[in-house]
Amino acid sequence: MIDYRRLRVALLGAGAVGSQVASLLLRHGDELADRAGAALELVGIAVRDLDAPRDTDLPRELFTTDAESLILGADIVIELMGGIEPARTYLLQAINSGADVVTANKALLATHGSEIFDAADQVGAQVYYEAAAAGAIPIIRPLRDSLAGDRVQRIMGIVNGTTNYILDRMDTEGAELVDVLTEAQALGYAESDPTADVEGYDAAQKAAILASLAFHTAVPLSAVHREGIMTIDKTMIDAARHAGYVIKLLAVCERLQEQTDAAASVSPGESISVRVYPALVPRTHPLASVHGANNAVFVQAEAAGNLMFYGAGAGGVQTASAVLGDVVSAARRHIAGGVGVGESTLANLPVVPIGRVTTRYQITLEVDDRPGVLATVAGILSDGRVSIATMEQTLEQTLEGGADTARLVIGTHKAREQDLSETVERLAASGVVERVASVLRVEGD
Ligand code: NDP
Ligand code: HSE
Repeated sequence: MIDYRRLRVALLGAGAVGSQVASLLLRHGDELADRAGAALELVGIAVRDLDAPRDTDLPRELFTTDAESLILGADIVIELMGGIEPARTYLLQAINSGADVVTANKALLATHGSEIFDAADQVGAQVYYEAAAAGAIPIIRPLRDSLAGDRVQRIMGIVNGTTNYILDRMDTEGAELVDVLTEAQALGYAESDPTADVEGYDAAQKAAILASLAFHTAVPLSAVHREGIMTIDKTMIDAARHAGYVIKLLAVCERLQEQTDAAASVSPGESISVRVYPALVPRTHPLASVHGANNAVFVQAEAAGNLMFYGAGAGGVQTASAVLGDVVSAARRHIAGGVGVGESTLANLPVVPIGRVTTRYQITLEVDDRPGVLATVAGILSDGRVSIATMEQTLEQTLEGGADTARLVIGTHKAREQDLSETVERLAASGVVERVASVLRVEGD
């Protein structure tokens, strides 16, 4: 048996992910030592409540509520508590006391990432966070390392398991959103406050992390446009299926090449867009076949072409796999010394507001079924610089003694978001539209 150098590993948090990390670390210690070139000694596990019931039978003597003492003297600190504070303070303490750190905390990295990376740079420490976006799926290293020589053009990701589970059940079983959300919570996919999932906050945090790596630019969470799935109902799901689409909550990170537009004060040059919203995805697209709580990240790069990363985006043991990969990397670096893997934000591309993004749309309107209505609708779209690609009309209902109502589903060619939203406002205010039933972007066609 090789007499490896011992590295002291401190674990902060023993919840869904932390308890699995501890168990695997203890169970596979010898194997991990051979891979890391160092013996990984779990010196303690910080929790909030020593008496809280725990699923795993981890040695009781490892548990402590004194995280600060545990951090001091550790070579590697694994933060799996979640939230901003005290996770931020503990990570900074760990970095400043000479440890390398591993975290799965997307909320913290998306809001305080620059502060943490800068602190690590100052002392030559490393921050590893493979589990912070898309759980078990290796996507941080591919973006940071494998694709470092390429130019990423676009990422389309299903990066939130809870919302994919909900939308998939609505699509495949006709379930109602609120019923399935309760199930997703019971299955442990949802965050403790599921608003983070269904309103797109969790996906926006992951989008900020992925875009920062892909475009070598520090993307603040505040620059990510975010919409959730609470407006999606069965009618929209059925209409999407009828038109050959499925609705997915997507994180879209895109490199743009804008032309001069004096009216919109746009100068030519490269920029990026980072956005999260429910979108129509063609059923033939690889992302359409991502079911249940799974995640997938579809990357389009200039030289590599299309790449798809798929797997479990949540779950304790699955996420523990990504965390332990980071622990092995941290241990190797700790032993070998040197600066380790770095990431660059020097491209510093501007992030454009959603109004300057160009996509295709599907607009569903309830209109009066009488002569001249289509011409009026077409005129408003044309005046708004929104070009019609497809249009389908179905008779919706006949109101007693009133006018017939028709449902108009309009697919547009690519249009600028600002033009589209102003046009939809004009449609809603026109005398012929009774209701704008939905406006959805189309991605991936
Ligand atoms: P849990 O809520 O299940 O566990 C949190 C753990 O941290 C608990 O053991 C808790 O202690 C401990 N803790 C919380 N606050 C403190 C504190 N102030 N001092 C000491 N200990 C504290 O979280 P998860 O395991 O689900 O998530 C951990 C991280 O991993 C989060 O950042 C999350 O976003 C991320 N993540 C989670 C995934 C998942 O599927 N669960 C997937 C990908 C990432 P106690 O047990 O005493 O309450
Ligand atoms: N609530 C998150 C999800 C957990 O549903 O994807 C993983 O980050």
